[in-house]
Amino acid sequence: TRPLKVALLGCGVVGSEVARIMTTHADDLAARIGAPVELAGIAVRRPDRVREGVPAELVTTDAMELVKRDDVDVVIEVIGGIEPARELITTAFAHGASVVSANKALVAADGAALHAAAERHGADLYYEAAVAGAIPLVRPLRESLAGDKVNRVLGIVNGTTNFILDKMDTSGAGYSEALDEATALGYAEADPTADVEGFDAAAKAAILAGIAFHTRVTIDDVHREGLTEVTASDIASAKRMGCTVKLLAICERAADGASVTARVHPAMIPLSHPLASVREAYNAVFVESDAAGQLMFYGPGAGGSPTASAVLGDLVAVCRNKVAGTTGPGESAYTQLPVSPMGEV
Ligand code: HSE
Repeated sequence: TRPLKVALLGCGVVGSEVARIMTTHADDLAARIGAPVELAGIAVRRPDRVREGVPAELVTTDAMELVKRDDVDVVIEVIGGIEPARELITTAFAHGASVVSANKALVAADGAALHAAAERHGADLYYEAAVAGAIPLVRPLRESLAGDKVNRVLGIVNGTTNFILDKMDTSGAGYSEALDEATALGYAEADPTADVEGFDAAAKAAILAGIAFHTRVTIDDVHREGLTEVTASDIASAKRMGCTVKLLAICERAADGASVTARVHPAMIPLSHPLASVREAYNAVFVESDAAGQLMFYGPGAGGSPTASAVLGDLVAVCRNKVAGTTGPGESAYTQLPVSPMGEV
């Protein structure tokens, strides 16, 4: 069988793990897919900073040239941010490649247009790694629960802020000390403002609301409050009341089913609640649906290896689709419902 060729855009904390696992698990991946997968090239901004173990002969600084190559079947985008990621992804679709992305900001800003572009070109767009690192959420909501009716999604979807709150709560660490540690561990975004101001969680809330309710929600629809107003004394008083503080993403379908809301803000959680025991950079998401009742998804929400796990799962899925000559569910599976940040009062 002809090997499937993969272009990797970005080789930082996540990308270097993807490259490593693609190399070390090549035989297993080939068995899962039914065809070998090979790296065709790795686009980076700073070739002098490429991590040890990354095949140097594949490294290029010309990402656009790489996505235009006719022999590339799949593009993995782990550079983040809106541009040039958006242009690279749409160019990849135009050249017939499917895309696996970890880019929550882009999917939350422009998911509908990207899905439409993928569908036009008979390509796939998968982004399990964009929400809650390794935890399977996008495909369970989009596929496993597609026959049920999800009414609420509630959870901790940002590892960095959970790590900060946990450190402040348990070890009395100061805010900036805890943030520095989260950055050193590879959890925080390149600009940690996205984490602490709640933009990262809001992007994930938009994506979750969209797939849970099969509608389109963008980050601008999400009411957002970050962590920056939370003080050590807020955490101490929560503790005195038998509570802890968590940054929550809450997505709800209105009781009449006709509209949806999504919001992100710090909340006091009783210590008896399962979300209170989510420590360090772990994430947890509750899903409530008509038929299934309550489900909880829990796992590592940030960091190189966990995020790479989700990317590789998507890689297997889109490669299987390529081998079978099909694509996953696209834009036409969505129906637009009215969206408001806080719901009706
Ligand atoms: N900065 C993100 C977080 C990475 O802390 O959750 C995973 O999306």
